[in-house]
Amino acid sequence: MVSTDSTPSEIPDFKAYFNAQPLHKRFLWIGAVTLAPILFLSVLAYAFTFHGMLALYHWVAIAKFLVILIIIFSISIPIFAVLDIIFAKKIFQAKKARKPAKTHQFNLPSKFIWTIALIGIIVPVSLYSWAKLSMMIRTGNTPPQLMIADGTGDYGIANLAVVFWTEEPTQNTLTYGYDSISRELKENKAAQTHAFMLNNLMPDKTYWYRLNDQEKTYQFKTPTNITNQLKFAVSSDCHLGAPSASEEMTVQILKTITDPTRSNDYFFFLGDFIEYGFEDASWKKGIDVFHPYTSVFPTAALIGNHDAMFAGANFFQDYFYPATMEYDTGNSFYRRTDINGIHILQLDMEWGTIENFDEAQEKWLIEQLESIPKDDWTIVMTHTYYYASGTYAGGTAWYDNPETIETLVPLFEKYGVDLVFSGHIHAMEHLTLKGISYTVVGTFGGHLEPEKDVNSVAESHFYDRSNYGFVEVDINGNSAYIGYYDENGKLLYEYTHTK
Ligand SMILES: [Fe+2]
Ligand SMILES: [Fe+2]
Repeated sequence: MVSTDSTPSEIPDFKAYFNAQPLHKRFLWIGAVTLAPILFLSVLAYAFTFHGMLALYHWVAIAKFLVILIIIFSISIPIFAVLDIIFAKKIFQAKKARKPAKTHQFNLPSKFIWTIALIGIIVPVSLYSWAKLSMMIRTGNTPPQLMIADGTGDYGIANLAVVFWTEEPTQNTLTYGYDSISRELKENKAAQTHAFMLNNLMPDKTYWYRLNDQEKTYQFKTPTNITNQLKFAVSSDCHLGAPSASEEMTVQILKTITDPTRSNDYFFFLGDFIEYGFEDASWKKGIDVFHPYTSVFPTAALIGNHDAMFAGANFFQDYFYPATMEYDTGNSFYRRTDINGIHILQLDMEWGTIENFDEAQEKWLIEQLESIPKDDWTIVMTHTYYYASGTYAGGTAWYDNPETIETLVPLFEKYGVDLVFSGHIHAMEHLTLKGISYTVVGTFGGHLEPEKDVNSVAESHFYDRSNYGFVEVDINGNSAYIGYYDENGKLLYEYTHTK
């Protein structure tokens, strides 16, 4: 703090004032106003490296608002620091003009500058630490799950993988087999992610598998290998951990789908497994809910927008589709499974196309579609939807998705896709357009949608927002029977799609 005694017309010399300040104050002053915006903008750039961040910005009005606010605030800090000097000079001159005889003080920087600079340092450092910590905090091992792999086996049915994760790097052995035949698979080095490939499974067998020397043996069945024959269930959006979600419904749906009397061969789950993808504890709890069913029933999982929050995609990858798993053509997030000549393309689309449907995925999709004979069953599954009735809520249109319709639907029409399944909207709907059947599969425990106020431009044959449930698809030759069921397996709607 320096007292400057001057004439009313004299402008305080900032340079002299600055040089007169103690070194630590000069260092803190310049350091704070330059470091704060750099920190804030760096943390923002870091946030956009996460799998789901671009989607959050693109689709959620509040996220976009916050990002813009952070950019404006960051840029404003040095601008305010300059204005602070100008105003201080003006105030000094005004005071001097009013009371020339008095000694006036020229104080810089103001408390306001110290406050915003401090916010600009504490907030980004806290956010970065929280993001890093949320990635590092792991809350224990995950039990094994039987995942449907990318590709197909020598006998026409899906390859599977037993996937689990351990807090410490471990080296494991898996023994599996059927009848009197057994095989042993050994990991060649210790790791945290584990994916034992069960390739070239024999059709119509009851298999078992066991980890290391554990007593627990898991059993699962493989489907028959008859061309164009397959029965599978599809559901989406459990949002486990959300106050509005019903875990009871999720469990009941899992029970019903995997009930042997329903004769489903596989289960395809389309994402939004948990509410907050950045919370490892939620993933672990969710897997504990799934494990009794998914350890013995071949299941495929897609990542949803809630799963992908911040570091969530890392957890999805580690717990469902590790990078170390074998992929014929796809990867942890999008893949192709061929069963009995039926082709199931599972895409990574969490909100729309801008965020995840990159050049690589588009190229991959076109390559797959081109390789599939036009007369074969082609089925597409994604987390987000194409045609759907719904609402306009929170600045977001929850009905016909213009991005997916513009980008994907022309490909579906060109390459003869038959059935399209999606989640993201927590309702059940059956729509058709240009010979393609679009099914919104219904909620797997996540909150039910509010009353719709916009109808899709496609022809909607059935819409239900009052039941939790799932969809079953039974393909036999040229026809596919599709049933919509509540959590207990009560039929709500059915249709037959003929090729
Ligand atoms: Fe959802
Ligand atoms: Fe979603």
